[in-house]
Parts: sequence; C-alpha cells; structure tokens
Amino acid sequence: MLANPDYTPEVAAATAPYYDHVKNVIPAVEWPVHAPYIAAINALKKERNAVVLAHNYMTPEIFHCVADITGDSLALARRAAETDADIIVLAGVHFMAETAKLLNPGKTVLIPDMRAGCSLAESITAEDIRKLRKKHPGVPVVTYVNTSADVKAESDICCTSGNAVAIVESLDCEEVIFLPDEYLANYVAQQTDVKIITWKGHCEVHERFTPQELEDYRSSYDELTIIAHPECPPDVLAVADFVGSTAQMSRYVETWRPKRVLMVTECSMSDNVAADVRDVEFIRPCNLCPHMKRITLARIYESLENLEPRVEIDPQVAEKARRAVERMLEHG
Ligand code: 13P
Ligand code: SF4
Repeated sequence: MLANPDYTPEVAAATAPYYDHVKNVIPAVEWPVHAPYIAAINALKKERNAVVLAHNYMTPEIFHCVADITGDSLALARRAAETDADIIVLAGVHFMAETAKLLNPGKTVLIPDMRAGCSLAESITAEDIRKLRKKHPGVPVVTYVNTSADVKAESDICCTSGNAVAIVESLDCEEVIFLPDEYLANYVAQQTDVKIITWKGHCEVHERFTPQELEDYRSSYDELTIIAHPECPPDVLAVADFVGSTAQMSRYVETWRPKRVLMVTECSMSDNVAADVRDVEFIRPCNLCPHMKRITLARIYESLENLEPRVEIDPQVAEKARRAVERMLEHG
C-alpha cells in the first residue's frame, strides 16, 4: 500500500501529460485514484533501475502510464532479451514473466501477482508432451509461448500467435505437433500444407465469443470491421475481416483506420488502441481475462517496493526451455 495515496497538486502536475493521453478511456473521476500510484511507480523505477513490460491486455493506466515496453507476447520476449535494466516487472501473466526470466537468468524478474495464470498454459504438462512424442516418434513439437517453462523444456521450438505459421514452416517437415491451443493450431493448419497434430487447450476468454454475437453486431452497426485473435474458435474467425496477434490487430487499426472496429479479444486492448487512435469508433463486447486483471497499479507498486514475488525457474528446466524460446527468436 502506498504510504501517501493523496492526489496532491504535485502528483496532479507530474501525471497531467499521462492523463491527457488516456482521457478518452479513463473517466476523470478515476484519475485521482490512479495518479498517486503512477507518480510513485515511475519514481521507483528510476531508483531501482527497473523497467515495466506490459502486455496489450493491461488496463490503460498501466499500459500508457507506467509501462516502458508494451506489445504482444513476441514483442515482450524480444524486448526482454534486449533490456539492460537490473529489474524487470512483467505486467502480464505468469508464462510471460517466465519467458522474460528465461532470457534474463541473471536479472530479477517480478510478476506483481503470482496467481496471474492462463487457461492455455494450464491445459498441458511436460508429461503430456513426453507421451505425445512416444505416440508420434520423430515429429517435432512446436509450443505456443502460452505454456509453462516445464512444457517449453520438452519442446523443439516456441511460437506466438504473431509468427506461428512461419515457425511451423521453418522446420521443413511434413508434420508437426502444435500445442496447446487447438484453435490457433486449426488456424495455422489453414495457412500451410504441413500436417498439424493438435491438443485440446483453449483460451477461456476467446472461446466465449460466438459467430452469432458478431453477426448481431454487424447488423446493428454500419461499416463495422471485425478483427479477431486466432485463439477464437474457427466459426468466429470465419466471420472476421482480419485475424492476427494482438500487435497485428493494433497495427491493422492504426494503419487502415476503419470507421468502426470490433476487436474480438480481451477488453482492455480496445481501450489501449483507442487512446492512440481517436478517429476510429470502437465497439466493445467486453470479455475480460481474469488472470491479466490481477495486475493492478497497486500490485505493481508493491512488487517494485518489496522486490517480490520473483519468478524463479529450476536451472536444468530453464536451460532446455531457453533453447526453445531462443530458437524462435533466432528465426527473426
Ligand atoms: P499475443 O501474443 O497475440 O499478444 O497473445 C497473447 C495472449 O495471451 C492472447 O490471449
Ligand atoms: Fe491466457 Fe486467454 Fe488470458 Fe491470454 S487471454 S492470458 S490466452 S487466458
């Protein structure tokens, strides 16, 4: 807890430029609650030589006001590998913090709430992969980064939603095992001739969207562009005008400036893009990720203040898991 959470004139002045950036997505009445934390976190980062890496699903007061590096899972992994800060605070979910730790074994990597998990990461274990390898001898295993370090350690190479097709094709094989997201695997299978063996993992946020709900939005709003994350079920993707990772979705809106857009993904993502892109109307069916939403300004402040909770990985597991992540990053 912040010792003095008052919205003083000094705090108001220090945080005014941030509020100017997010004022179309954060009501004025909420700002006095966020601002003291934003000022305190930004001061503490300097003191500790720390950086905050924030995923696109963080709320705007985190994403736009305390993060040094923002992006999709791929960008966060790449930028984590490049930072020269002593401390990394991962404002995202546990697998993202593990990936940052794999790439920075000597640094302190903090996750503001250890309980920030992921339904995909929980859908598969290292033992499941060993069994699959026995069932499909010689077939390489491509693992989505939304997995634990234990699972990555049993894999040949990782991928994200931003590079999945390219990674699968880079292996130059007729067949690959692609884990754990069944829907992303199906989407990849549509873009390549490589045979894809899937697993029945799903994202609890994206699997809730339905084609009917999207069709209803289409008939209610003229000139609506629908863009979706590939973790959505295939019948939802079939209704979308564009499919891509969270970074690719942001880029789509920034580049094409549709009149109205519906981003079929976690709710905060639209707020974050809307803060930057003021001439697009965002239609928001709000599906929240309960794991991402565990990360708050107060928890970021506390983790920086106390330097915990820290992400630690068994060195033997880390060595093997790192290889799978680095193979992905080497791919470019
Ligand atoms: P991205 O890699 O597209 O950011 O996706 C991560 C994620 O958790 C999506 O639910
Ligand atoms: Fe996992 Fe889905 Fe949450 Fe992303 S949105 S962290 S895939 S549960």
